[in-house]
Amino acid sequence: GDVGAGTLPSAAPALAASAAPVKLTILYGSESGNSEKLADLSAKEAKKRGLVTTVKNMADIEPSALAKLENLLVIISTWGDGEPPETAATFYKAFMSASLDLSKLSYSVCALGDTSYEKFCQMGKDFDVRLETLGAKRVHDRVDCDVQYEKPHRTWLEGALSAFTPAQPVASAAPAFAIPTFMAVAPQYDKANPFGAELKERVLLNGKGTAKETWHYEFSLEGSGLAYEPGDALGIVPRNGPDVVEDFLKAAKLNGSEKVEVPDVGAKALSLALEENLDITALSRSVLVKLQEVTKSKKLAKLLEDGSKDKLKEYLYGRGIVDALEDFAPKGLPPETLLSILRPLPPRLYSIASSPLAHQDEVHLTVASVRYDSYGRKRKGVASTYLADLVKTEDKVPVYIQHNKNFRLPASGDTPIIMVGPGTGVAPFRAFVEHRAALEQKGKSWLFFGDQRYMFDFLYQVEWQDHLASGALTKLDVAFSRDQPEKIYVQQRMLERAKELYAWLEDGAHFYVCGDANRMAHDVNDALLHIIEKQGGKSHAAAEAYLEDLKKAKRYQRDVY
Ligand code: 2AM
Repeated sequence: GDVGAGTLPSAAPALAASAAPVKLTILYGSESGNSEKLADLSAKEAKKRGLVTTVKNMADIEPSALAKLENLLVIISTWGDGEPPETAATFYKAFMSASLDLSKLSYSVCALGDTSYEKFCQMGKDFDVRLETLGAKRVHDRVDCDVQYEKPHRTWLEGALSAFTPAQPVASAAPAFAIPTFMAVAPQYDKANPFGAELKERVLLNGKGTAKETWHYEFSLEGSGLAYEPGDALGIVPRNGPDVVEDFLKAAKLNGSEKVEVPDVGAKALSLALEENLDITALSRSVLVKLQEVTKSKKLAKLLEDGSKDKLKEYLYGRGIVDALEDFAPKGLPPETLLSILRPLPPRLYSIASSPLAHQDEVHLTVASVRYDSYGRKRKGVASTYLADLVKTEDKVPVYIQHNKNFRLPASGDTPIIMVGPGTGVAPFRAFVEHRAALEQKGKSWLFFGDQRYMFDFLYQVEWQDHLASGALTKLDVAFSRDQPEKIYVQQRMLERAKELYAWLEDGAHFYVCGDANRMAHDVNDALLHIIEKQGGKSHAAAEAYLEDLKKAKRYQRDVY
């Protein structure tokens, strides 16, 4: 049935005393904390209904444990190009090849993802299929959630919990929609209700003469009650630029003053809805499918055929929704139809670059403005250029804190840390080093930083030098990729320091990587394996096991995007 926003049917009267309690395990795999948050919310709701509920992180269990369970909810996000979350990778790999008898298990899967990626919710799909293959019974259909996952998750949870407790007289329980479960526990400011943080200051971190445009932003959190730790991210609720909206309206053959009804928001002028509420840039298969439904374009239908995967990929690369409107809806679209193909404008997460101990009531970000040309249009990243072009100092920016328990300083201030953060990947390490300095912690710290040019792109150079002088930072190695004919990257510096790096690991160091997920994080992982193999005199398999153990001990943590 239909579930009111923010509300789930309240607990049915406790199970009849004679009924055996229903046991439920909620298993999650989380990258930036969303799945974890949903697992906790789901557990709260399940407990209310009398289920004996346990929450498990995939990072902490083995697939064989599933054979002993009766009821299972899996909440799993997909990262990048169909990848499992970092902390779930080991479990995922083992589970996909495990031979287990799960015929006693009932389950349902909630998949988190982002429709702008080709392999949308791939992890959820894989888990769903694998569980079934191993004999488990799907008692409620999987839900594939886009970035705005709150509502679909709620509806899914409602159905799944009912499926686990068929004997419960939920329907007969009097007014079932009374308690606003989620609202009651929500903190004051969150994703759904962001805080207007004043931009106090901004500094361009690159020197003149480089293609790069990396900004340091300082926001005030005064009066918000928001708290964060190094490793957490700041969510920014951006808006589209008026120029982008104008271009979009032109392609849609509309003038923008048309009144439209925006779901969950209300009535407003189309141009304002496009600016504030809707994703009008990220083109994906999902948008094209909806566009085809409303235009009935034969050309588009052909592109979406099963056999045209490569052509579709090629079409999507470098194009936005505006191009698709021009190509497949040349006569334009009525306002409501246009709205029906667009998803809500998702917020963006940035790794926080400050320690709250070093900057009271403030939060800092390091953000590279994304700008490029393609197919004759100037393109720009929504949130990075919202901050760079549309927000002036003293303006308020809607923000919230996204906690990330998977990226944390060691519990002890004496534990050595190794940090690899090229480009804007350096952001959380500024927070780490500031934090340790503020707490006067004595553990050794080692930063590998890289960027294009020493002269222009050495982000926070003076601060690192100060930290080196004070001892807050023990070692700094830099790799400037474009100061010489051949490319030099952070992983090369790691290899040059292999012996010492391995000694730090043997000494208990935690190893952190932040930045580009596509290539850098991969190459750094390879370098690390190589170092462990050579310096530890290990086989490749033994080096991989060593790295696995580091991950399990939460001594190898990554924040990559
Ligand atoms: P490049 O742009 O000259 O290729 C931050 O963006 C730094 O990371 C830049 O110096 C960039 O170099 C570098 N970089 C690019 N690809 C990388 C990779 N695979 N591994 C490590 N660093 C990389």
